[in-house]
Amino acid sequence: SVTRHYKFNIRLKNVTRMCATKTIITVNGKFPGPPVLAREGDRVVIKVVNLVANNISIHWHGIRQLQSGWADGPAYITQCPIQTGQSYVYNYTITGQRGTLWYHAHISWIRATLYGPIIILPKQNESYPFVKPYKEVTVMFGEWWKADTEAVINQAIQTGAGPNNSDSYTINGFPGPSKNCSSNETYRLKVKPGKTYLLRLINAALNDELFFKIANHTFTVVDTDASYVKPFETDTIYIAPGQTNMVLLKTKNISSNAKFLMAARPYSTAASGTFDNTTVIGLLEYDGNNITSTNSSITNLAVPPLPPINATTYVANWTNQLHSLANSRFPVNVPQTIQRRFFFVVGLGTNPCPKNQTCQGPTNTTKFAASVNNISFQMPTTALLQAHYYQRWKGVYTTDFPNTPLVPFNYTGTPPNNTVVTNGTKLVVLQFNTTVELVLQGTSILGAENHPFHLHGYNFYVVGQGSGNFNSTTDPPKFNLVDPDERNTIGVPSGGWVAIRFRADNPGVWFMHCHIEIHISWGLRMAWLVMDGQLPNQRLLPPPADLPKC
Ligand code: C2O
Repeated sequence: SVTRHYKFNIRLKNVTRMCATKTIITVNGKFPGPPVLAREGDRVVIKVVNLVANNISIHWHGIRQLQSGWADGPAYITQCPIQTGQSYVYNYTITGQRGTLWYHAHISWIRATLYGPIIILPKQNESYPFVKPYKEVTVMFGEWWKADTEAVINQAIQTGAGPNNSDSYTINGFPGPSKNCSSNETYRLKVKPGKTYLLRLINAALNDELFFKIANHTFTVVDTDASYVKPFETDTIYIAPGQTNMVLLKTKNISSNAKFLMAARPYSTAASGTFDNTTVIGLLEYDGNNITSTNSSITNLAVPPLPPINATTYVANWTNQLHSLANSRFPVNVPQTIQRRFFFVVGLGTNPCPKNQTCQGPTNTTKFAASVNNISFQMPTTALLQAHYYQRWKGVYTTDFPNTPLVPFNYTGTPPNNTVVTNGTKLVVLQFNTTVELVLQGTSILGAENHPFHLHGYNFYVVGQGSGNFNSTTDPPKFNLVDPDERNTIGVPSGGWVAIRFRADNPGVWFMHCHIEIHISWGLRMAWLVMDGQLPNQRLLPPPADLPKC
């Protein structure tokens, strides 16, 4: 294994999409950001220099950060942000992981333009557990706003209302030909006939889960969130914000210059109008096609049919097909006995409009809020990990996060009217190596919605999921403890629940939140504090000298 050095200059860049130019925050002037390339076992050292007016921090989404919690990146959780003119070196080793992950800014909505892939190849002498691909391609989904996204989120917070929808979804930064004035902004994937391509799919969109399909082609899914799965065929990928998938695309044995459209559009059970329900289109071009296809020749092609916007059953079935390899080379380490059980109710709700303010939230006199077990997590003004490490936690956080909701009710039936939540910066404390089972229960307060939950610092096993209310007697016996899917982000089903298990073997403070950005802004987030173990290799290492100050 080697050490790989990167320098990320965070700087502004003018980018034109759909005939409007705006100044965006980028890594080294690139949009999407450049790849971080490493092999399993490598150390990665990335110097991030902040050359913009905003505070910056970068999260390496899905990297385990064993003992290196200082490099995880969420602002005010593991570090204070990097201020203008300052720099910070993120330094971590990639242990026991290979596949596709990604990085993104983890402060306010800056990740709208600051994101890029992390590509982790197998160790030098190791191969993929599937056919060696002819070529590897990264496909990142995103969202583009013509407006400044910081203004979009600030306005939403101020009025208590939902944010303005993005103007387009994007594939590798391109809105595709179907938008007004976007004819030359189509992502094109050039392929040769009869070859196997490995697509590294990443959903970097802020607020939308997506379906993805290529006309007349199918995929073999081989990985979720940098963990291999038993391969299965599908023609439509479901991918939530934060999630990654590696899929094999076998190209047809057909003449060159054949062309097919690829398309992505959202999965959502939210009220229509509250999200962008348009379709982003890209192009799969068989090689030999040297003439660049014109816009009209693209729009004459058939858009592949995607599942209905609210296809909850499709999503549940898709998720149920995911199984870890669970073989001797890639064993499953799902905890079989559980020391701590948690039941977290996650969902949207409302708060009363503060006096002296006019709110345009769900009932005009309320503002949106979101909570885990009735707690809407308040961001501290100093980093939780520092407060913990230096034992200066008084006034920063409390450790009384409730294990179960304060008032149990029928979560997915007709929920009670009282949806008021309380604010707090509350943590759950776990002793080192505790085995944890967590049931995340969705609610239908303000309508049932899928919440893709992401846990920092860990992979977890998805041992069960279901619709309706979780039943603690009849559901656990059906859990899959043999080959459950291993990942870092899982959708809490719309009007349902999901059960995950993990072993708390990584000391630090670890954020957990819905990866739909507006939901995290409304408070759908919390944090775990995992204590050190007895042995030196079970302890959080001291902070680096250049750790930013608040
Ligand atoms: Cu990809 Cu806390 O996020």
